[in-house]
Amino acid sequence: MTRVLEVRGLEGGYGSVQILYEIDMHVDEGEFVTIIGPNGCGKSTLIKTIFGIATYYGGDIEYMGQDVSGWRTDQLVNHGIAYVPQIDNVFPSLSVEENLQMGGNTLPNNILNERIERSLEMFPDLRSREHDLAASLSGGERQMLAISRALISDPKFLLLDEPTAALSPLYQQQIIERIDSLREDGITILIVEQNARLSLARSDRGYILANGKMVHTGDAQHILTDPEIGEYFLGSTH
Ligand SMILES: Nc1ncnc2c1ncn2[C@@H]1O[C@H](COP(=O)(O)OP(=O)(O)O)[C@@H](O)[C@H]1O
Ligand SMILES: [Mg+2]
Repeated sequence: MTRVLEVRGLEGGYGSVQILYEIDMHVDEGEFVTIIGPNGCGKSTLIKTIFGIATYYGGDIEYMGQDVSGWRTDQLVNHGIAYVPQIDNVFPSLSVEENLQMGGNTLPNNILNERIERSLEMFPDLRSREHDLAASLSGGERQMLAISRALISDPKFLLLDEPTAALSPLYQQQIIERIDSLREDGITILIVEQNARLSLARSDRGYILANGKMVHTGDAQHILTDPEIGEYFLGSTH
């Protein structure tokens, strides 16, 4: 099995403020992996450090067997990694179509149009909204737009930061199902979530982050059903 991401001893943060300590984790090709942990524990920082947005201090980040530690975001995108931020992930004053175009503004037109078409096939709800402003979309539709925009770069590995936050339960379910179905297109998935039950239910494996350190890893089903983990990291049962 191909290892898509291997992280060893990763240290990261913001400028001189260290947030992450000795992070070890991996994601294999075709996997769906969820990182959970309480608010402020460093989930967003971890994904941002991997993606070259937060400050990388040290440790190894390997992508598809290549050392990409400290690489710039645009280099990572060119090698097939994409990222969907938790907030401000669409341009509200642009149309759905323009948002998708922004996802590939360095691509030749014919390729860009093909990719937009493919994104709209994956998220058909957006097709009827193509010419509407992103500001007019519901929270769930916005999240779909943010994900489809990330797909315009034709990624092999997709990082998502709390894709279901602030959505209604129906949309949460739909978004997680759509993300899961991206695996059929050969995309490997890494999600960080605070409300993690839905995401873990679709995941192969999970990691638990607390205070900037990985405190547990295991089979997603095991994490979901372990009463002690449930009490501390998953909130109430439903
Ligand atoms: N730009 C920043 N500069 C300095 N500290 C930050 C910045 N963004 C977040 N932090 C701090 O980093 C810690 C982890 O934040 P974050 O990774 O966003 O947590 P999570 O995503 O798990 O809620 C928090 O203490 C937060 O206040
Ligand atoms: Mg966060």
